[in-house]
Amino acid sequence: RSTLCLKPRPPVVTVMGHVDHGKTTLLDWLRKTSVAEREAGGITQHIGAFSVQLSTGERLTFLDTPGHAAFSSMRARGASLTDIAVLVVAGDDGVMVQTRECVDLVRSAGVPLVVAINKCDKPGAEPERVEEELLQCGVQLERFGGDVQSVRISAVTGRGVPQLEEALLAEAELNAVMGDPSGPVEAVVIESHVDRGLGPVASVVVRHGTLECGAVLVAGRTWGKVRAMFDERRKPMREAPPSTPVLTVGWRDLPTSGDNCLQADSESAARSMVQHRASTPARLSGVRENRES
Ligand code: GTP
Ligand code: NA
Ligand code: MG
Repeated sequence: RSTLCLKPRPPVVTVMGHVDHGKTTLLDWLRKTSVAEREAGGITQHIGAFSVQLSTGERLTFLDTPGHAAFSSMRARGASLTDIAVLVVAGDDGVMVQTRECVDLVRSAGVPLVVAINKCDKPGAEPERVEEELLQCGVQLERFGGDVQSVRISAVTGRGVPQLEEALLAEAELNAVMGDPSGPVEAVVIESHVDRGLGPVASVVVRHGTLECGAVLVAGRTWGKVRAMFDERRKPMREAPPSTPVLTVGWRDLPTSGDNCLQADSESAARSMVQHRASTPARLSGVRENRES
C-alpha cells in the first residue's frame, strides 16, 4: 500500500489485565450497557470489539480481552491489533500474574500503555502501592518521572473515567494512527459464532480499505460474501472504514479469531484461495491454528 493513501483513523484501544480486575465493567461504563452481568460466570471468554464516541466527539475502537489464565493466546492476538493498551489493575488486588503477562506483551509489541487503577471506590484500595508494584515490573509511570500515564478510576461509579478518556486522547494524539480507506479490505477476525438466524457470523476489525456489503472475504480456510453488516448494537451498517468493528454475515464456515481477513476479487477467486490453503500444510501456507489450550 502507498503511504500517500494513509488517513487518520480512530485508535484501537485494547483493555487488558488480570481476571476480574474490571475490564468489562469499565467498557460497560464507556458504552453504557451491561455486558459484565450477563457473562457466564462473569468471565469474558472472547475478545469483544466496539466503537465508542467520547463526549468530546472523538471515536475510539475498544477491544475487551479475557483476563483468565487460559486465554493467554487471545491476549497476544489482541496486542497485535492494538494502537494503545489500557492496563486495568484492581486497586485492592494489585499487580497479579496476568498483569505482568500483559506488561510483557505490551512491551514486546511496542504498544503505548495507559494504566487504569480500578476499584478505587473500595475501602481496601491502595493505588500508591499498586503504582510502586508497577514500577517494579518496569512500567515507567509519570509519577516516578516516566512517560506512562496512570489514572485512578472506579468502573462502578464512573469516577476518574473522564480523566482516563483524556489520557487516551492525549496518547492517541502522540501516536497518530493511520489507515488506507481505499483499495482491497484487510481486516482481523475478532470472534465468530453461529447465529441461529444469520448462520456463521464473524466480528472483524477493518485495518485497511472500506468494507461494504457484497465484498468477498477470505479468512484462514473459509470465505464468505458479505450479505449484511451490523454494528455491535446490531444496527445495520453500510460501510466500515479502517478501525471499524463490524459483524459480518455470509460466511461458509466459522473463521478463527485472530485470522487475517483479505478481500478477494470474486467468489471463484476466494474458492481457489481456500482450496490452495487446504492443500498446503498450515505451517507453509501461513494459516495459524488458533486453538486455545
Ligand atoms: P475477566 O473478563 O473475567 O478477566 O474480568 P474483568 O476484568 O472483565 O472484570 P469484570 O468487569 O467482570 O468485573 C469483575 C467484578 O469486579 C464484578 O463483580 C464487577 O462488578 C467488579 N468491579 C469491577 N470494577 C469495579 C469497581 O470499580 N469497583 C468495584 N467495587 N467493583 C468493581
Ligand atoms: Na470477570
Ligand atoms: Mg471481562
